[in-house]
Amino acid sequence: MNLLAFAASNSKHSINKQLVTYAAQLIEEEGLLNETTVQILDLNDYEMPIYSIDRETEGGVPVAAQNFLEEIRKSDGLLVSFAEHNGSYTAAYKNVFDWTSRIDAKVFQGKPVVMLATSPGGRGGSTVLATAVAAAPRAGGELRGSLSIPSFSKNFDSEEGVLTHPELVTALRDVLTTFADDTARLSYG
Ligand SMILES: Cc1cc2nc3c(=O)[nH]c(=O)nc-3n(C[C@H](O)[C@H](O)[C@H](O)COP(=O)(O)O)c2cc1C
Repeated sequence: MNLLAFAASNSKHSINKQLVTYAAQLIEEEGLLNETTVQILDLNDYEMPIYSIDRETEGGVPVAAQNFLEEIRKSDGLLVSFAEHNGSYTAAYKNVFDWTSRIDAKVFQGKPVVMLATSPGGRGGSTVLATAVAAAPRAGGELRGSLSIPSFSKNFDSEEGVLTHPELVTALRDVLTTFADDTARLSYG
């Protein structure tokens, strides 16, 4: 079983990357999925010029977009944690998504997906998370659950790399268990 996890952020110190890495570890350490490997992808490896129809007409779609799509194709399921900028996706994520969608509008290619979000504030990126959740079917994502983690620094120990709020840990474990069960069923039949 190959899981792909990434933060929809290009920050080197991304709190969403910390969160999605923790979620991936929870799946591995608690054995929620048998024989699972998790690849943590970094959006910085897929940096491209800002999408424009003119650039596409002149030069086609950059190979990085093909590579991003290929990583999703090879996976059995996805964990994505969304950073929120001005109530929406980060420009970095939107750009990767826009270019990739020119190859295949179903960017998530029918894969089971868990969508997370966190921010330093009390809303925990819930606006961008709602956008991503609503867009999941159009993007070919089989949504298996979503969770926003508010007030990141209060609820997550960055030194240990763990979520510390007991009820949020339970909520995340519940979401990941549903995801793992469905992903196993899809893969093993
Ligand atoms: C340009 C910009 C806009 C932001 N807008 C929001 C926002 O609308 N809502 C929010 O909760 N946080 C907002 N933030 C704070 C981010 O949640 C914070 O920077 C967080 O660390 C981003 O996640 P990341 O570390 O995974 O990139 C904004 C930050 C920046 C730099």
